[in-house]
Amino acid sequence: MAVTNGEARRCIVWFGRPTGDEYESLTQAGWYIRIADANGQGGVGTRSGSIVVALADLRHADVRSIASMERMMGDYPGLPWLALISSDMPTQEPLISRILQTSQDFFTAPVDLDRLLETLVHMGGDLPVDEPNDSGITGRSQAMRIVMASIRKYAPVDLPVLITGETGTGKEVAARALHGMSTRADRPFAAINCGALPPNLVQSELFGHERGAFTGANARRIGHFETAAGGTVFLDEVGDLPTDAQTSLLRFLQEGTLERVGSSQSIKLDVRVLAATHVDLEKAVEQGRFREDLYYRLNVLRLRMPALREREDDVVMLAQTFLDAFREQHHCQARAFSNAARQAMRHFAWPGNVRELLNRVQRAAVVAEGDLITAEDLDLADIPAAQLAHASLGSTRVAAERDAVINTLRECRFNISECARRLKVSRVTIYRLCKKHRLALEELR
Ligand SMILES: Nc1ncnc2c1ncn2[C@@H]1O[C@H](COP(=O)(O)OP(=O)(O)O)[C@@H](O)[C@H]1O
Ligand SMILES: [Mg+2]
Repeated sequence: MAVTNGEARRCIVWFGRPTGDEYESLTQAGWYIRIADANGQGGVGTRSGSIVVALADLRHADVRSIASMERMMGDYPGLPWLALISSDMPTQEPLISRILQTSQDFFTAPVDLDRLLETLVHMGGDLPVDEPNDSGITGRSQAMRIVMASIRKYAPVDLPVLITGETGTGKEVAARALHGMSTRADRPFAAINCGALPPNLVQSELFGHERGAFTGANARRIGHFETAAGGTVFLDEVGDLPTDAQTSLLRFLQEGTLERVGSSQSIKLDVRVLAATHVDLEKAVEQGRFREDLYYRLNVLRLRMPALREREDDVVMLAQTFLDAFREQHHCQARAFSNAARQAMRHFAWPGNVRELLNRVQRAAVVAEGDLITAEDLDLADIPAAQLAHASLGSTRVAAERDAVINTLRECRFNISECARRLKVSRVTIYRLCKKHRLALEELR
């Protein structure tokens, strides 16, 4: 059995053919499925460290392939086997009954996917679904691959990076990865949330102050920039910087120097600046709240962190990573997620992004009573339609569809047949689309 490097930590060798639903659920849960031909040549090989479960799918098997499955069960006595049968199969038939007896468990179609998964989790132990890479960023969706490629490209360059994205998308995680993959990795990384600092203290926090610089400044204080000398400063919510601090930051970016508050001596420093914002900085510039020259200095390289709802392929994997991490710290019965829970997580719009997912998983891990976390444990059992991912993602598609219908209708003077021809759909579909988009034909005509 060929196993690609690093991917096949949990593998099901499926003798037969899974349905689309079965395939999708198991793959989502981190199982690698290899379809095997019971009549074919070659056995079941494993890469060391991989977990392999074999599955005898008798649903569509003929006598010959059932016999060869039985032979393989004998050839690999150490391998855990599961069997799948259809409800109308003659289980008293010796061949079938021997297979059912040799396998650890069997399932009757339609397969209860939750129970199958639970059984697999028991058989396969609780290995993490995927090892986080050295960047600390979990995710293998298309969107995250693009992010990772940019991080790799930007990390070794000493220029500022402006990281944008909704709150909870991992902007700070990305900043740490940029630092960790740079030549500054063994120097300090200082993360400062500009929005959380009292405006009158920002300057002193960032650049330090001299004794007596202002009331209460009883001693000299070194700021974050000086503390991070040789390393990286990450300015989170940079749009919240007060004007005077914006001016000092601009000067630092232009000249590489700063002055502590209450001092006129300029200090030369080598610090890379990374900045993040969840607000539209361009708008802040337009409204005069953010210096345009500073904006251009910060925005040399730009990294956009995608919202979690744009990373549907990562949700389950992230959730499993968070659950595995939680299990290392706490006693917890749950080892994985039910099929319904995984579906709910994939379809939820995640307004709070990865941070919200982390919080929900941790809470669910505490309240869950079984081996599998349910949608109810995640509080995602009955999500209103408006909170589903396609509601927000699809809104542009819906608008485009409405535009297409109305424009075409106008072009063909509301002749439904002609409109249907042009859009290559049936007349019924046109009526349906009008109803869907609340286009009142009578009034439009
Ligand atoms: N790709 C990721 N892999 C693992 N954990 C992540 C990832 N992205 C975000 N997180 C976690 O989600 C939470 C929010 O991330 P953070 O970087 O603080 O978001 P932001 O700064 O955009 O609000 C943190 O606990 C972080 O560890
Ligand atoms: Mg943050």
